[in-house]
Amino acid sequence: MGRLSVDLLVLGAGVAGVYAALAAEARGAKVLLLSKDPLPSGSTPWAQGGIAFPLDEADLEAHLQDTLRAGRGLVEERVARAILAEAPRHLARLRAFGLPFHPEPTREGGHSRPRVRHLGGDQSGLLLLRGLLARLQSPILQGTMAASLLLAQGRVAGVLALSPEGPLEVRAGAVLLATGGLGRLFPLTTNPEGATGDGMALALRAGAALRDLEFVQFHPTALPNGALVSEACRGEGAILLNARGERFMERYDPLLELAPRDVVARAVHREREATGGVFLDLRPVPNLETRFPTVVAQARALGFDPLKEPIPVAPAAHYAMGGVKTDLFGYTGIPGLYAAGEVASTGFHGANRLASNSLLEGLVMGERAALAALEDLAFPQGAEPLPSLAADPEALLALKAWMERAAGVLRSGKRLEEALRFAEGLPLREVAPERAIRPSLEAAHQVLLARLLLRMALLREESRGAHFREDFPQEAEEAYHLEARGEGIRRVP
Ligand code: FAD
Ligand code: SIN
Repeated sequence: MGRLSVDLLVLGAGVAGVYAALAAEARGAKVLLLSKDPLPSGSTPWAQGGIAFPLDEADLEAHLQDTLRAGRGLVEERVARAILAEAPRHLARLRAFGLPFHPEPTREGGHSRPRVRHLGGDQSGLLLLRGLLARLQSPILQGTMAASLLLAQGRVAGVLALSPEGPLEVRAGAVLLATGGLGRLFPLTTNPEGATGDGMALALRAGAALRDLEFVQFHPTALPNGALVSEACRGEGAILLNARGERFMERYDPLLELAPRDVVARAVHREREATGGVFLDLRPVPNLETRFPTVVAQARALGFDPLKEPIPVAPAAHYAMGGVKTDLFGYTGIPGLYAAGEVASTGFHGANRLASNSLLEGLVMGERAALAALEDLAFPQGAEPLPSLAADPEALLALKAWMERAAGVLRSGKRLEEALRFAEGLPLREVAPERAIRPSLEAAHQVLLARLLLRMALLREESRGAHFREDFPQEAEEAYHLEARGEGIRRVP
């Protein structure tokens, strides 16, 4: 077995992981990153809309209010205030890196002003990540998957990973999870294949708390294969039509196509059910081909020409608001273990993330978590890997179908119970991590997280943000979080 030792081990090479590594190496730390897939990996390179930055000091309060409003009572104001207050410093830094932000910010749903900074038309995430990677000096092991966390004297002390050369033990003074989300739990998703919630499952197995998994954001406008049609398209004039050719958003929200994402996703879902289809008319968008080159190319690849006709769209699983519970320093509560980016639940997004707030969170929290981890390095003797979990990958097709039916845009207790029964019937077995294989590990992580997500969605007998229960359509008076540790789930104010 290969063996390495570093100060900070970063799992993931998306925005949170790479920005964290930049911060740590600038302080002289020995850093190693692992990426399960070849670069550019994760959701980051697929981000289209951009990064939300407060426009100026005066806009900070408005950006905060928009974030709070979208999050439906579950955004932690202290956290949101801190993240937004640091945002301008990061924008200045990215500009100093030479990232070519468009001079005019754009508008997306839920934002009271155009404040989303974008790059290369709709290639914001790709150009951001390329810009960060170009500055990174630390090594990234590509095609290397963290299979299990090492524990030593109650502390996370590294990982056991599966590399193309075989098992690899990496000892580290601290481990930072930056492994992204879990969108692949659903059959239609904007997320790349690797979004199987690995970091959440690894953290849970090490004793960390997972919070609010039931809050999955469905993006209202994905193409039939899950490719995203950015909300910024609606920000710049695109309109939604049902199969009868009616502009239906006026029946749902005064903000029309730019209502918060959960509202638009439910409206699109209902109109698809009622009329047989929903279409996005992109023809009102000025300079469509140069402003949204990716969207146009992805639509054409499926045989639709957005310059000539409205294109079919549907809601798709897009973003996990929940995740590993952390404080404002990315600390998970398990010594030696930190988390940042989509894998984490800081309290910034509440029940519904405001568009383009996640790349921002990845930057701010990536840096914060890396700096906190460097203050907390330790190398205890005698590290042992936790056993990994394995499941049958063939069961995933059926599991995903259940997730869509029960835990999709509209949920109900009866369907959630049926789906949970199915998920709990899928066997999980412990395996030595060095013997594990990627598909079985990913399947096990998905089964584990599906069970928790379904249990949380069942327990939450109300509708709030992205979680909509047809049998409990009202929002409860008091907002609360759901937190899982091991098998138990508790309600936390
Ligand atoms: P990711 O970028 O997802 O990176 C995860 C990394 O972890 C990858 O390198 C992966 O290989 C690695 N990894 C995973 N598991 C393992 C493992 N077990 N071992 C080793 N490595 C592992 N947000 C915005 O703010 N603005 C937008 O415009 C926007 N547009 C989006 C468009 C699309 C299509 C999608 C899918 C998301 C979009 N989002 C947007 C959301 C945003 O892109 C993501 O939330 C964000 O990029 C997540 O960054 P991250 O660093 O946390 O994880
Ligand atoms: C989009 O471009 O619509 C995605 C923005 C986001 O998810 O924040």
